[in-house]
Amino acid sequence: MDVFVVGAGGLLGSNVVKTAVNRGLSVAGSYHSTRADFEIPLRELDVRASEGFEELLTEFSPSVVVNCAAMTDVDECEKRPELAHKINADAPEAMARRCSDRGIGFVHVSTDYVFDGETDEQYGEESEPNPLQVYGQSKLAGDRNVRSAHDSPLVVRPSFVYGVNRAHETAELDGFPVWVRSRLTAGQAVPLFTDQYVTPSRAGSTAETLLDLIDDGASGTYHVAARSCVTPYEFGRIIASTMGVETDALDKGSQSDVDRPAARPSNTCLDVEKVEARFGRSQPTLQQDVDAIASYF
Ligand SMILES: NC(=O)c1ccc[n+]([C@@H]2O[C@H](COP(=O)([O-])OP(=O)(O)OC[C@H]3O[C@@H](n4cnc5c(N)ncnc54)[C@H](OP(=O)(O)O)[C@@H]3O)[C@@H](O)[C@H]2O)c1
Repeated sequence: MDVFVVGAGGLLGSNVVKTAVNRGLSVAGSYHSTRADFEIPLRELDVRASEGFEELLTEFSPSVVVNCAAMTDVDECEKRPELAHKINADAPEAMARRCSDRGIGFVHVSTDYVFDGETDEQYGEESEPNPLQVYGQSKLAGDRNVRSAHDSPLVVRPSFVYGVNRAHETAELDGFPVWVRSRLTAGQAVPLFTDQYVTPSRAGSTAETLLDLIDDGASGTYHVAARSCVTPYEFGRIIASTMGVETDALDKGSQSDVDRPAARPSNTCLDVEKVEARFGRSQPTLQQDVDAIASYF
């Protein structure tokens, strides 16, 4: 078995499976609450059960494990910090250690929310993390745990993940564009922040680059995102124009307009020069990424 994908039912995980299968790799994976439709061997796994993970390593003997599972609801993490740490920090450590013991490669997925956003610069891989909320703290602990449990892990760090979830036969748009689309379609106002900056990562292109990094024998941390550092308002304008609808319904808003349990950083734009230099090619712009999945809008 070439690749085992943990969290194969998620937005990024389903794209890693689909992309790896399209490349002719032998792939197996695990899902959590809902079984994906892929025609690959799939097993149910709660990542907190590390013995179950060990059994899957024995069953499939993969060359590399890609961990796309995480507790990704930022506000839910704030309400349930112990659970967030179990899933986002303890489980990746246990999986990385078991892979290391067997000489299996381990790829872990980090987040831009390890940064506090208190800068106008884009964050490089060596920038100092300082998460503002439980989600980012648990994910940062996961990054560090994986690095200490495995001798040469690859940590891929995306930002603001969106795209097409490939886990089911009727592949569906997922993430931020779904919310914008549903409000535009319903003729409702779409309040969008103009004081938050992100470099959105399309799941499909992130999966391609993740697999390129594995193929190229990469280890260490790589930022994988679009080249475009934009506000959700600017992203909303691209979505509206892709849908061919007027942008009048888009309202400029501020993060202070909403009351949410977890704090959000104002700027988590990722510098993608390291991955661009490795492959001698530019990361896509946000417009290019959206154009690649325009038919789903
Ligand atoms: N979404 C973003 O904006 C964003 C930004 C930066 C980084 N990331 C990172 O990117 C990675 C992939 O996230 P995504 O966007 O693809 O999110 P997602 O669609 O929510 O996928 C996360 C997956 O983890 C699974 N999972 C949750 N708890 C689990 C458990 N206890 N055991 C096993 N699986 C479990 C979920 O399964 P169920 O749904 O069945 O529970 C889901 O399939 C994560 O590491 C995330 O932190 C995401």
